[in-house]
Amino acid sequence: MSEAFTKSMARNIFYGGAFFFLLLFLALTFDTINALPKLDNRAALESPVGPQIAKGKHLWEVNNCIGCHTLLGEGAYFAPELGNVYKRYGSNLDAVKGRIKGLISLPAEGIPMRRMPRFKFTDEEIAALAEFLKYASEINTSGWPPNDQG
Ligand code: HEC
Repeated sequence: MSEAFTKSMARNIFYGGAFFFLLLFLALTFDTINALPKLDNRAALESPVGPQIAKGKHLWEVNNCIGCHTLLGEGAYFAPELGNVYKRYGSNLDAVKGRIKGLISLPAEGIPMRRMPRFKFTDEEIAALAEFLKYASEINTSGWPPNDQG
């Protein structure tokens, strides 16, 4: 029977398919590697405020902010998303600093039982955290999260 599905036909489909998807995989990998540097806001890290951003990131890590907050969707869901907090406060650094100050002062702002710990930050440290949050908000996330509250 000439229409029989032969072993060599099956082999050709396998090799053809594998080759096609390997090419597709390489093309998409190449595209991602090209696109990433334009999205990750690394220009800010090389700007004069770069060291402040790094200091803010360090404070972010050692104080485990992510134990309560999310940053660009990663983290805990106890407290608001902070990847866009800078935009939420009108893209105004002083407003972000003022908000952090309010949250860690006595008496702290916020709903009782759902408050920020009263971190003992200096003004310099608050400024570094605000710079870090500004930097995070300027990463191009292709519109994620979809609203300012998220
Ligand atoms: C124990 C949990 C907890 C930790 C840890 C924590 N936060 Fe918060 N944070 C909160 C809560 C709860 C709120 C919301 C307060 C409210 O709106 O009443 C908040 C609010 C905020 C806001 C304002 C968000 C908004 O939309 O108004 C900022 C900015 C912020 N936190 C920054 C930080 C930073 C920076 C750190 C780390 C140094 C941190 N938080 C660590 C619980 C936490």
